[in-house]
Order: sequence, then C-alpha cells, then structure tokens
Amino acid sequence: MASAPIPKAELHLHIEGTLEPELAFRLAGRNGVELRYASAEELRDAYSFCDLQSFLDLYYELMAVLRTEDDFADLARAYLERAAAQGVRHAEIFFDPQAHTSRGVPIGTVIGGLARALDDSEERYGVSTALIMCFLRDESAASALETLEAATPYLDRIIGVGLDSAEVGNPPEKFREVYDRAAALGLRRVAHAGEEGPPQYVTQALDLLGVERVDHGLRSLEDPELVARLVRDRIPLTVCPLSNVRLRAVDRLEDHPLPRMLAAGLLVTVNSDDPAYFGGYADDNFTAVRDALGLDDETLRDLAANSFRAAFLDDARRRSYL
Ligand code: HPA
Ligand code: ZN
Repeated sequence: MASAPIPKAELHLHIEGTLEPELAFRLAGRNGVELRYASAEELRDAYSFCDLQSFLDLYYELMAVLRTEDDFADLARAYLERAAAQGVRHAEIFFDPQAHTSRGVPIGTVIGGLARALDDSEERYGVSTALIMCFLRDESAASALETLEAATPYLDRIIGVGLDSAEVGNPPEKFREVYDRAAALGLRRVAHAGEEGPPQYVTQALDLLGVERVDHGLRSLEDPELVARLVRDRIPLTVCPLSNVRLRAVDRLEDHPLPRMLAAGLLVTVNSDDPAYFGGYADDNFTAVRDALGLDDETLRDLAANSFRAAFLDDARRRSYL
C-alpha cells in the first residue's frame, strides 16, 4: 500500500485554479452559462499552454461559470477535500476578486461563498485555512485600491494581500500605495514575482511592497546578491514545480532549479498553484519532484517543514504541525 502523504501546508494555491472541467460543466449547467467546449474531456484537451498569458486567457474565461455563493462554496469544498487527501493540513488560499466583480459578481458573494466552505474545513477535512486576496497586476492600481476598499467589511476573513496575473510590464512598484494601505489595515503581504518577470521585480516586491513571502521567485537565481538577501532574511519562496513546466518557465521537471535553490539555502516550499490546469495537487507536486529530481526522504521532510515555517500561523499552531 502507498504510504500516507507527508503532512504539509499549501501556500500558493489560486482557488479559481482548482476548477476541474467536470465542476465547470456542472456549474455552467446550473447557471445557464454556455462554454465553447462540448465536454469536460474536450476542455481538458485544451490545457496546453505556451506561457503564463495563454493559461490566464482560459483561466479567466472559465470563471464565467462562478456566479453565486453556492458556486464559490462548492469550488472551495471540492478543493479542501482533495487537499486533505494530499496531506494538506493548512491552506492559505488566493482568490482574485477583480476577476469576479468585473463580471458583476459582488465581492461579498465571492468572500461569503468561500468563507462558508472555509468555516467548517477543520471539522470536515482537518485542514485549517486562511484567505489571501490577490490584485490583478494587469489592472490599474486604482482598481486594486477600490478592491481593497470594497473588501473592508470582510477584513476579518482575509489574512493578507497578494499580486498575480500577467507579470511582465506590471512591476511591483505600480502597487506601492495599495500595499501601504494594506499594511496600515494590518494585512500580511505577499506577491508573485520572478515567475516570468526579472529578478528586479523580486527586489521591488521586498523593498517597495514589504512582502514577507515571494510567490514563485524562480528568477531570483539570476541575481546572486538577491539570493544572499533572501537567504539571510529567511524570505520564503513558494515554488510551484508542475506549474513551472506547464507554463514553460522551466523546460522539463528534470531541469527544475529546486535542488539549486535548496543548496543555496533558500527557504523553499512546494505548492500546486492552479492544480486543475497544471496536472496535480500538493502531494502530486511532491511526488513529481521526488521522481524527476531524485529528492530523498529527508529533503521532502524539509520541504514539508518549510511549508509550516513559511505559513502565517501563530507559534503554538506552527509547533503543533512541525
Ligand atoms: N501566475 C500569475 N498569475 C496567476 C497564476 C500564476 O501562476 N495563477 C493564477 N493567476
Ligand atoms: Zn500563482
């Protein structure tokens, strides 16, 4: 019998990226939304991406099926059930409010539906949770600020803010004022940087946005001074190996820089990003890097321990997981 998956925290997971084709069709039927695919199989066959943008186009298109609180609750429950089976004990979950409000879905519907699923997640699935609200970096800073203001009634549900979507040409500095405001509201700060964008975007995220964790961060390796800083300051990088291959940030999993990152002393975690699109959930990513990169059990245990070290948990909770 296969051994139980190693207990871990998931720190880089877009809830909209957990929309499996079958659920997309079920929600489309429920909401009377037309999809331009004949079946879940045909949709899954379209999951072939050449870069981040080619994925984002489909990712945003399919969100049309998410309309009601029930839809967001069903989406999150489906993810949490799968996450539990993959050894996830704690999940810090990204969501993209602007991708919904721009379609006329109120932010309260999004947060209300997600919160319903998260509220009984520990009891039902044994997974503790937190929500991180991401701003779409290819939208304006004014739109991000408006989104932050619209979220103020729900701040007790949100642990922090993040930055995602099309990276190149949308540097962190664009969102400085938004992140200052988020900090003033007591929110934790993370940002995608160094996925397709240059190492300077990682430096900017640290210097100008005050992020405590960097999502992806792969291209940091091109700047030795930045690597030294990330190591010295114990800044976690939430790496997503299967995503990196599917979006062609890395040619083959066998070439993934994860071993180099570990050897450099970086605080690296392994995560699934958009698992419905990239071919695997949290433990699938662990298994894939183990097999492709020949990681031993001790390294896998270290990666899992890093996920709890890097999580926004209080010390008592963190200790209970480590
Ligand atoms: N990068 C940027 N934006 C995203 C991603 C990603 O990997 N997934 C969902 N939105
Ligand atoms: Zn991501």
